[in-house]
Amino acid sequence: MTGTATAVGLGAVVAYDLLQKRSGVLRNYPVIGHGRTLLLKIRPEIQQYFIERDWDGRPFDKTSRELIYSRSRDDKSEESFGTVHDVTAEGKEWFVHSITPVKPLVDPPRIPVGGTDCNKPYDMALLNVSSMSYGSLSAHAIQALNAGAAKGNFAHDTGEGGISPHHLAGGGDLVWEIGTAYFGARTNDGAFDPQKFADQSSMDAVKMVSLKLSQGAKPGIGGVLPQGKITEEIAEIRGVPRDKKCVSPPYHTVFSTPVELIEFIASMRELSGGKPAGFKLCVTSQRDVLAICKAIHQVGTAPDFIIVDGSEGGTGAAPVEFEDYIGMPLTQGLMTVHNALVGTGLRNQIRIGASGKVAEGSDLVRRMLQGADYLNSARAMMMALGCIQAMRCAENTCPVGVATQNKRRQLALHVPTKTEYVYNYQRNTVREALRVMAALGVQHPDDLHPAMLRRNLSEGQSASYAELYEWLEPGQLYGDAPEQWQQAWQEASPDRFGPGSTYMSK
Ligand SMILES: Cc1cc2nc3c(=O)[nH]c(=O)nc-3n(C[C@H](O)[C@H](O)[C@H](O)COP(=O)(O)O)c2cc1C
Repeated sequence: MTGTATAVGLGAVVAYDLLQKRSGVLRNYPVIGHGRTLLLKIRPEIQQYFIERDWDGRPFDKTSRELIYSRSRDDKSEESFGTVHDVTAEGKEWFVHSITPVKPLVDPPRIPVGGTDCNKPYDMALLNVSSMSYGSLSAHAIQALNAGAAKGNFAHDTGEGGISPHHLAGGGDLVWEIGTAYFGARTNDGAFDPQKFADQSSMDAVKMVSLKLSQGAKPGIGGVLPQGKITEEIAEIRGVPRDKKCVSPPYHTVFSTPVELIEFIASMRELSGGKPAGFKLCVTSQRDVLAICKAIHQVGTAPDFIIVDGSEGGTGAAPVEFEDYIGMPLTQGLMTVHNALVGTGLRNQIRIGASGKVAEGSDLVRRMLQGADYLNSARAMMMALGCIQAMRCAENTCPVGVATQNKRRQLALHVPTKTEYVYNYQRNTVREALRVMAALGVQHPDDLHPAMLRRNLSEGQSASYAELYEWLEPGQLYGDAPEQWQQAWQEASPDRFGPGSTYMSK
């Protein structure tokens, strides 16, 4: 009798777990999945083990991750008990609020992208889905991101794996990214195919086109898709064989100098019928950024946007050495690009997007203060989809269906539910960003100022970004270049990129 009752009870739990739509873990691991929830509830230390990160280099901590979960579920926006950060710690950054806060904007501002050479400008949202390919993510994940983007009117970057039917299923606006392998626009031997690019980019869903130069998590090497994740559909979309892992080359064949890069971006814009065209990079050096600026002046046309990816950014697969030790962190990268564009008189033609651990409303405001116009987020969007950071993206065994091509595991991700979560997460995060800005006394990102962000230098001493860094005046590099920029400015050539050793004139 007891045995029957236990079996019925267990059966009921299994049925409930399989049918509920919120938790991917329970859909894939009925009954035993509750063990994880229980462990997370009873011991904060265990939560710390399942961990993750925070501003600049530190892991996405429990607060960030739980915040993303609760924002995506529309649960609550307030936390009890007070800060979990050490607000006095050296290096800790904080905003300067106003004694007379203003009302936050109800409708978030849009950021128009597209300079004078572009005839189909696009209005970006403040927060968008960062590039993650179909292949690294599952079909269900791509569908939910795309439908969430459509519902919330924000953009969905395809990542470098080409445009799949799943990117078109939800009706969301796409930023089509091509990387060194030119998936979706490549010849049989891997070269760039202008005709295919023109065909694909003319699709209505494609609102902007982007060239990936590098990615913060693995600058200097190309994308990797492990063989186990290459399905027939993915092989077909990318134009690659199924029997070995899919590796994008570390360098481009369409350009090798700054001038050629700018000319190629201009040709992407032309081939797409005049849509905004730009590139994404993890910054190498001050000199290379200035070389690009000089090339823009020489060629006489500018990219419509530059996406700066910080070295703290995520990836589906990369060697740890590259994740941890190569590339410029987002704060430095952003300020280098922003100031180089201001100093060469180009800032009003080019929008700056930024990515790298953008998770909370405060991240948006902080990055906009440092020079970004809009933000992209990858891993936070994955968490909105239900990612629990099992770190098995490369193994095809993602327990929640986000980063696997295994059809059964993907069933854990219920697309309509996760569409809502992605939509909620973006909307609530932008709303919080507007509330933070209002507390600083401004309504619009244009009115943010570097003096509004301070960093603790020691306990009891702090300085603002306005004091800590050199902020160039429009066109200043053509006149009186400040000392910090002089050598890089002299060395920068529109005809060559350099090795990575002369950053900051050393
Ligand atoms: C699963 C996964 C796949 C990614 N795929 C791409 C890609 O195809 N192209 C690209 O430029 N960046 C790719 N990225 C990097 C992100 O777009 C972004 O630049 C980086 O993760 C920083 O954002 P995050 O800290 O919000 O994750 C990927 C990141 C993740 C986590």
